[in-house]
Amino acid sequence: MHILVCGGAGYIGSHACVELAARGHQVVIADSFVNSSPRVLQRLQTLVGAPLACHRVDLRDRGAVEGLFTGQRFDAVVHFAALKAVGESCQRPLDYFDNNIAGTIHLLQAMQAHGVHRLVFSSSATVYGDPDAVPVREDAPLRVTNPYGRTKLVMEQLIGDLCASDPGFHAVNLRYFNPVGAHPSGLIGEAPGGVPNNLMPYVCQVAVGQRDRLAVFGGDWPTVDGTGVRDYIHVVDLARAHADALDFLVREGRSANINLGTGRGTSVLELVRAFERASGRMVAYDIVARRAGDVAEVYADPSLAHALLGWHAEHDIDAMCRDAWRWQSNNPRGYEDGAVDADAAGGAPVDAALSR
Ligand code: UD1
Repeated sequence: MHILVCGGAGYIGSHACVELAARGHQVVIADSFVNSSPRVLQRLQTLVGAPLACHRVDLRDRGAVEGLFTGQRFDAVVHFAALKAVGESCQRPLDYFDNNIAGTIHLLQAMQAHGVHRLVFSSSATVYGDPDAVPVREDAPLRVTNPYGRTKLVMEQLIGDLCASDPGFHAVNLRYFNPVGAHPSGLIGEAPGGVPNNLMPYVCQVAVGQRDRLAVFGGDWPTVDGTGVRDYIHVVDLARAHADALDFLVREGRSANINLGTGRGTSVLELVRAFERASGRMVAYDIVARRAGDVAEVYADPSLAHALLGWHAEHDIDAMCRDAWRWQSNNPRGYEDGAVDADAAGGAPVDAALSR
């Protein structure tokens, strides 16, 4: 299939591009690069064995989005392009509404205008808020606790309304639990700008010596060891599910909301210990006060993903830590490190891979 991947230069999007290309799909990336690096394109070229077409497009620019569909025919869209920092979304909610919601409306309008009727959407377990029970099933109540989460829920609802209005339009909303890890090559991975908000990139930066100590948010949660429990999922497993979701859309011609997790919970301290084993480095930490908005324990019931997509997570927490560490130790400053770029792409200039 000919697939448009919006946000394909980002952390999860780049891993999905590798998987889609490996399955023989023709991938076209659209990315604004506000939260990603054009250098990822060189790494993707190395992994895929050919350059991927890439357009620098901000989904808020309706004309530019429309332009993506003019002159090329897509069989499906995979939509990752969104802002995703919870704290930032509380400070700048309008930016989140504009980027995430308005951008998605423009994308859906262009898809409909050009008869592109298959969508895989990057949603989040954040739509469950503080769930009443674990493991969390897809029919659990939806409630959100911050503007970022609200944008994910509204985007799911917009997509749902479009599917209801147009019997030919089908979408799979993939609700990710906690994506971590990196491609086993060590060429692509998560490269957060500034201080990481999420646990695994913070642990990586402590292990590599960029940050002194991890602050563990709360040691008095009602969990196995008092620290927060989450369902960490390897980004390569997650990427595979996007290709499986496209196959589902083609095969079944219907829509679905699907959790992506392992079904197993891991506490903060369990993750720290697994990371220490994988890296051979100490991760110094202090237990501090709980973080506002956190919850004790969240993990998925992933059985629908198995039933509908034939998918299940294959990597355990040790593999997640091993691959996260390989990425971090090979690229201490993420895509800012030039050495691997030059090796990977034979020194090709970054902009040569970008076209408009
Ligand atoms: C967070 C977001 C969620 C988003 C997801 C993206 C919140 C409340 N939720 O999920 O909406 O979809 O990221 O991946 O922000 N922790 C520490 N120290 C740290 C960082 C985290 O102890 O420096 C703990 C947290 O308290 C939590 C666990 O590690 O128990 C995981 O935290 P994090 O990686 O931020 O993910 P979530 O909070 O689950």
